[in-house]
Amino acid sequence: MEASALKDEEFQQFRSWLHHTAGISLSPAKKPLVSGRLSKRLKHHNLPSYGEYFRLITQSSEKAELQIALDLLTTNETYFFREPKHFDFLRTQVLPKAKPGQTFRLWSAASSSGEEPYTLAMTLADNLGSTPWEIIASDISTRVLEKARAGHYSLDRTEGIPKHLLSKYCLKGTGSQEGTFLVERALRSRVQFMQINLNNALPRIGEFDVIFLRNVMIYFDMDTKREVVARMLPMLKPGGYFFVSHSESLNGITESLKLITPSVYRKP
Ligand SMILES: C[S@@+](CC[C@H](N)C(=O)[O-])C[C@H]1O[C@@H](n2cnc3c(N)ncnc32)[C@H](O)[C@@H]1O
Repeated sequence: MEASALKDEEFQQFRSWLHHTAGISLSPAKKPLVSGRLSKRLKHHNLPSYGEYFRLITQSSEKAELQIALDLLTTNETYFFREPKHFDFLRTQVLPKAKPGQTFRLWSAASSSGEEPYTLAMTLADNLGSTPWEIIASDISTRVLEKARAGHYSLDRTEGIPKHLLSKYCLKGTGSQEGTFLVERALRSRVQFMQINLNNALPRIGEFDVIFLRNVMIYFDMDTKREVVARMLPMLKPGGYFFVSHSESLNGITESLKLITPSVYRKP
């Protein structure tokens, strides 16, 4: 069955639902993105319109389809050592001051398919010596979390990973795994992935020395940015660091953190 095109009022329904659920604001220009990304689900369920699909995800007990729609409407672009200055800053300014004997805790919120938390894991493993550490990595999308847990990527994703870390922490696939690599098991086991929607009350996952919240606030409106950051701040230890992307800032979002260098903040 050929489904009808996405109507303005149907687009509006998806927009309000996504904003309410995930805090994500879609501009009117995102209409083709919504119709493009969801069209295969209409085909899959043999539905005649986007309105019918909207009813399926919001009114039926089919929670799995709701998660699929959410997965499809989030943008998950990421890569290893994205914005490398942040990892240099961690290595040179933050990790040397970690207290030996006390577990160094880091949260990669909105971790997408794992490249960011594994980059952090390589940086910590390579620089913290015998100081214990752990990373919590979270995202709203279960599809990307599944990929992240596997830690299995195409070899062309290694661009940006320094050579010595590549040989220390990544296993090159052979035979049927040719063209891929696996993040080494010991490193993978130190990153705990969990589904967390930053737009909801947060689970109790303790306090952190460092929080990464990069390239996700760009999808939120100002009120949502304020609410999300306010929810996260109690989980940052005094003296802890909060990283956003270089294209984001906490101007007008919180006054509780001190800017240390562009995109890096510290809790007094
Ligand atoms: C562009 S990726 C950024 C990944 C990584 N932080 C980086 O900078 O490379 C944005 C991620 O935010 C996630 N996301 C969007 N809304 C979210 C929410 N309300 N709670 C948690 N994660 C969310 C998306 O699923 C997506 O994986």
